[in-house]
Amino acid sequence: MTRDAAHPPTTPGADILRAEGVRKTYRLGRVDVPVLRGATVSVREGEWLAIVGSSGSGKSTLLHLLGGLDRADADSGPILFAGEDLRRFGAARENRYRNRDVGFVFQFYHLLPELTVLENAMLPSLVGLSRLRWMSSRRALRDRAAELLETCGLSHRLTHRPAELSGGERQRVAIARALINRPRVLLADEPTGNLDARTGHGILDLLAARHAEGLTLVMVTHDASVAARAQREVRITDGQVEA
Ligand SMILES: Nc1ncnc2c1ncn2[C@@H]1O[C@H](COP(=O)(O)OP(=O)(O)OP(=O)(O)O)[C@@H](O)[C@H]1O
Ligand SMILES: [Mg+2]
Repeated sequence: MTRDAAHPPTTPGADILRAEGVRKTYRLGRVDVPVLRGATVSVREGEWLAIVGSSGSGKSTLLHLLGGLDRADADSGPILFAGEDLRRFGAARENRYRNRDVGFVFQFYHLLPELTVLENAMLPSLVGLSRLRWMSSRRALRDRAAELLETCGLSHRLTHRPAELSGGERQRVAIARALINRPRVLLADEPTGNLDARTGHGILDLLAARHAEGLTLVMVTHDASVAARAQREVRITDGQVEA
């Protein structure tokens, strides 16, 4: 995959993403539920990492924190992207991080039902564009989305709406959407969780092809056969990450 000038290459094998002693506690009424209790994990540039753990162990919580979708506790250690502390980001940098630096694939797709497949995949590329930029670049963005959807095997579904698609097709749209802005890291939460084994492995083949092109992949799963496709596996137990 070609890289944007906005994404200067870093040293291969260097940490692209690192959580260092991360803490996250949910407050339920008057009860504190500590989920992450000093979790440390590093993701090296270009690797494919699987995060496993039992249901409720905090996998989604950790992935949301890595993606800048949620905030850790006040006494938490940092999350670093290419050495930058996410907590130091201002609003504009934070938006750029969520929209450009990382791509996120949600377990339940989260596609917009009123938009077509093509429009769903294009959407993140339109965020923040001025009207003028949008007018001048929409054709190129549309072409890129169509090309990406083609590599995801969806060229015959561009004008369909999500409700008309199978689960595997919806997940492929969600992957195309997560890749549209050429993120350095793709964070995928149970990307095959709702799919039958065959469809699930088709999704993993798609991710493997992107990984072979240089994409860094962090995938949460509770399925050992899915985790086996990754290069490395870590497990969340008792709020901590074990290699
Ligand atoms: N918004 C929230 N408010 C309160 N508690 C929450 C919230 N989100 C998650 N939790 C709790 O935090 C714990 C970890 O949740 P999380 O979703 O990270 O687990 P998980 O490992 O992804 O589980 P699963 O495999 O079932 O998806 C659970 O006990 C859950 O109930
Ligand atoms: Mg989860």
